[in-house]
Amino acid sequence: MAMQSVQKFVEEVRALYAADNDPADIWPRAKDPMARLLADPELAASSKDWPVSDHENLLFYEDPDYGFVVNGLIKDPGRKTRIHDHAHIWVLYGVLTGSEDIVRYDRIDDRSVPDRADIRQTACDPVAPGAMDIVEPYAIHAEVAGDAGSVAVIMRSAKPGGFNQGRYDPETGRYWESPGVTQIPWPLA
Ligand SMILES: [Fe+2]
Repeated sequence: MAMQSVQKFVEEVRALYAADNDPADIWPRAKDPMARLLADPELAASSKDWPVSDHENLLFYEDPDYGFVVNGLIKDPGRKTRIHDHAHIWVLYGVLTGSEDIVRYDRIDDRSVPDRADIRQTACDPVAPGAMDIVEPYAIHAEVAGDAGSVAVIMRSAKPGGFNQGRYDPETGRYWESPGVTQIPWPLA
């Protein structure tokens, strides 16, 4: 992890953690450092060499003390994620290049039936480079990449894979859980 802007971002986030170890406080404060990261033309240029990921994230950095990670997610044009939540973790999602729609949902059932969740779409927000989205724990959402695809840089309060996340099928009302995206170590030059 040598890319200067990513290094600086990590240092700024570590300083936030050192002052206050609660992601609920840190995540809003991390938007300024993330905005500077997304504005780095060198990072955007280097992202042209990053591979398209399907159910995978590039792992740029994992913090040895606080456990947060910095990921890259590259989508083909029109690629749509499954509707999901991130369980208990906090996510700061930043659009580096391309465009997407971020689709949000509310859960409207009473949670009395196992394996079932009724959801309702509440928003569909078009986003462009520089846009940031704080995804709170258990927030239900999906992303749809635009005509040119998209590249996102993502900070998560914990590395996915070691815990289950919620999955939602609005057609059938089915709810199930499975581990989050596979992490592919991707040191930045
Ligand atoms: Fe997500």
